[in-house]
Amino acid sequence: MTDMTDSEFPGIIAGGGDLAAFLGANKGAVDAALADAGALLFRGFDVPDPHAFDAAVEGFGEAGFTYEDSLSNAVRTNVTPRVFTANEAPPTTEIFLHHEMAQTPLYPSKLFFYCEIAAEEGGATPLCRSDWVLDRLSEEAPQFVARIEEQGVRYTNVMPGDDDAGSGQGRSWRSTLSAADKSEAEARLQHLGYSWEWRENGTLQATTPVLDAVRVLPDGRRTFFNQLIAAFRGWADSRNDPNRAITFGDGTAITTEEMAPAIAIADQLTYDLAWQPGDMALVDNFLVMHGRRPFSGKRRVLASLVA
Ligand code: FE2
Repeated sequence: MTDMTDSEFPGIIAGGGDLAAFLGANKGAVDAALADAGALLFRGFDVPDPHAFDAAVEGFGEAGFTYEDSLSNAVRTNVTPRVFTANEAPPTTEIFLHHEMAQTPLYPSKLFFYCEIAAEEGGATPLCRSDWVLDRLSEEAPQFVARIEEQGVRYTNVMPGDDDAGSGQGRSWRSTLSAADKSEAEARLQHLGYSWEWRENGTLQATTPVLDAVRVLPDGRRTFFNQLIAAFRGWADSRNDPNRAITFGDGTAITTEEMAPAIAIADQLTYDLAWQPGDMALVDNFLVMHGRRPFSGKRRVLASLVA
């Protein structure tokens, strides 16, 4: 491989004192480091609680991407205006690598994570450079890459009528679509180009329009910008069958054999960020995938999204 082994990933910025002030004073350098590494860990700063995290996000000075407006499938709760719980799925549930909301037409450009309480065991945030994944996948499975690049992909997800916190995909259609009733939900889906079907017990099966699976960044880097791995490995609950969650743009199912190389390569390239209380991470959502390892004990990692 090329330069990945000598690249620092993630970039680590060790410091002290007020993180909001640091980010405000060093915005240019932080932006440059983020563009280079794709993910930065801020460690040793004084970030005692979610309010200090909110202030740090404000100090960075970019507009927020709100959970209410998003089409995220995860159940979340706001803690401060810009900060919410990352995903309320049970501790034993692994959340597989993904680009945030890449299974929808609306996604944030960057994510902040903040560790208030570290898990007793496990609970790392896996991070994976998606440009490196695509480079290797292009060598090992060129036909697959050509096909997702030419055709794009579609995702199918079955949403409950009410939030199901027992699932990583448990956000209700009412909340996901900001809809009070079925006709409002249909109007929003229509507007977004989805197709849909109402199912038993007030659940809603929704299929996205064709979405890009590869993204070209302004500097020419190409990334595996999609939700294929998380959907294929993780969209399993009482409503969802992962084998039906992803298709090529023409509607053909993407098979286990076709997904295997991407999954193996991403696993090999993953860095596990083991949290310490007070840590904050900044992730470029177009360049780096993230997830959540299972854990035991009490863990509180909060998130904030940049538009
Ligand atoms: Fe996520």
